[in-house]
Amino acid sequence: MKADVCIIGGGPSGLLLSQLLQLQGIDTIVLEKYSREHVLGRIRAGVLEHGFAELMREAKCGERMDREGENHKGFYIAHDNALDSGGMDHVDLFKYSGGSTVLVYGQTELTRDLYEARDRLGGKVVHNAEDVTPRDLDTDKPYVSYRDGDKVIRVDCQYVIGADGFHGVSRRSIPKDVLREYERVYPFGWLGVLSRTKPVSPELIYCKHERGFALCSLRSQVLSRYYIQVPLEDTTEDWSDDAFWAELKRRVPQAIADGLITGSSIEKSIAPLRSFVAEPMRYGRLFLAGDAAHIVPPTGARGLNSAASDIYYLYHALIDRYKKADDTGLDAYSARALARVWKAQRFSWWMTTLLHRFPNNIPYDDKLQQTELAYLLSSEAAMRSLAENYVGLPF
Ligand code: APR
Ligand code: PHB
Repeated sequence: MKADVCIIGGGPSGLLLSQLLQLQGIDTIVLEKYSREHVLGRIRAGVLEHGFAELMREAKCGERMDREGENHKGFYIAHDNALDSGGMDHVDLFKYSGGSTVLVYGQTELTRDLYEARDRLGGKVVHNAEDVTPRDLDTDKPYVSYRDGDKVIRVDCQYVIGADGFHGVSRRSIPKDVLREYERVYPFGWLGVLSRTKPVSPELIYCKHERGFALCSLRSQVLSRYYIQVPLEDTTEDWSDDAFWAELKRRVPQAIADGLITGSSIEKSIAPLRSFVAEPMRYGRLFLAGDAAHIVPPTGARGLNSAASDIYYLYHALIDRYKKADDTGLDAYSARALARVWKAQRFSWWMTTLLHRFPNNIPYDDKLQQTELAYLLSSEAAMRSLAENYVGLPF
C-alpha cells in the first residue's frame, strides 16, 4: 500500500489531521490498533478551546459540535474561604479573556464525528492493525508495517505521523540517545463517574477541599461528569456509587451538595495524574502529535487542546510541503509545537498544584497554596492570566 502520509493512531489527533489533509488533496492512511467501538468506548474530558473547534469546522466536522456543544463563559472555584459567596467564587472567562469562551462537548462525541467525516470522504482507516512498526524513519523512503492476522502489510509513504497516544509505538521508535523525556507523576488520581442525571450546575465547579479536590462537570443537560481526588492505591472496587456520592457531597459547598442529583454510574474509572513531555517531536520523517508526545493532568482541560496546536502546525507545514515544496514549517515543527506544549504544561501543573491536596505538603506549602488562591481571586491581572490560558493561548 501507498500513501503520502501514514498516520499511526485513530484517536482525535490522527483522525483530525487525516481529515484536514484529505480535504487538501493529500493522501493519508490511518492505522489504529483497536476497533472503532473500542476507541469510541473511551470516556475523556469535554472542554474545547475555540482554536480546536475552528479546526473541527475547517475539517468539515463541526456541525454537531456547534449544534449540541455548550458555550461556557466561566466556571466556579469552590474553597473553604468563600463562605460569604456561598462557598464558591466565579471565574468570568468571557470578561477576563476579552470575550472568549470554551465549548463543552464530549471528546467521545467529537471522535465519533471525526470517524463519520472520514467515512463520508472515503478515508482509509485500518482498525485492529497489529504490531504497527514505523521503519527507515531516517531515510527519505520511510514505511510502516503492520499485521492483519497472518499477513504483514507494508505502507510506503513520505511522512509518518505518530498520533498513537502515550502508550503508542511511535515515540519508542525514536532512538534513546535522541529522545529526552520530562515527567512528573502526581501522588493521587481522579476517580470519575458519568451519570445520566441533570448536572448540578450550568457551569463547571472546581473544588479545593481539605479532603481533596473535586470537580462537577457535564456532557449535556442530561449527562453529568463528576470527579474526586483519590489516593493512587485506590481501585474502582473500593468505591461503590453510594460511597462516591457521599464523598463528593463532603467536598462541594453545602448548597451544591443539597442540589446534587445522584444516580447509578454509567462509567466509573480512575486516572492517575501525570505531566509528561518528549523532545524533540520530530525524528527524520516521523512527527509526533498529541498524547504521543505530551500528557497533562486533566485539571485545566488542556489534553486535547494541547494536541490541537500540534495538528494545526503539522497541517500547515504539510500543505506548504505538498503545495509549495517548502519545508520550513516541517523543519520548525518540533520547536514551534514544544513552545506551546510547555505553556500548556505550565498551566496544567499550576492549576493542579493550586487545587489538590498534596499528601506530603509541609504546613508552609499549604499556606502558600491558600495564598496563591487568595491572590488569584483578588487580582484582575491574575484572573486575566488564568482566563487567557483556560480559553487557550493562540497557536
Ligand atoms: N498502533 C496503532 N494505534 C495505536 C497504537 C499502536 N501501537 N497504540 C495506540 N494506538 C491508538 C490508540 O488506540 C488510540 O486510539 O492511538 C490512538 C491515540 O489516541 P489518544 O490516546 O486519544 O491520543 P490523541 O489522539 O493524541 O488525543 C489527544 O487529548 O484529552 C486528551 O488524552 C486525551 O485522547 C486525548 C488526547
Ligand atoms: C470533564 O468534563 O471530563 C473535564 C472538565 C474539565 C476538566 C477536566 C475534565 O478540567
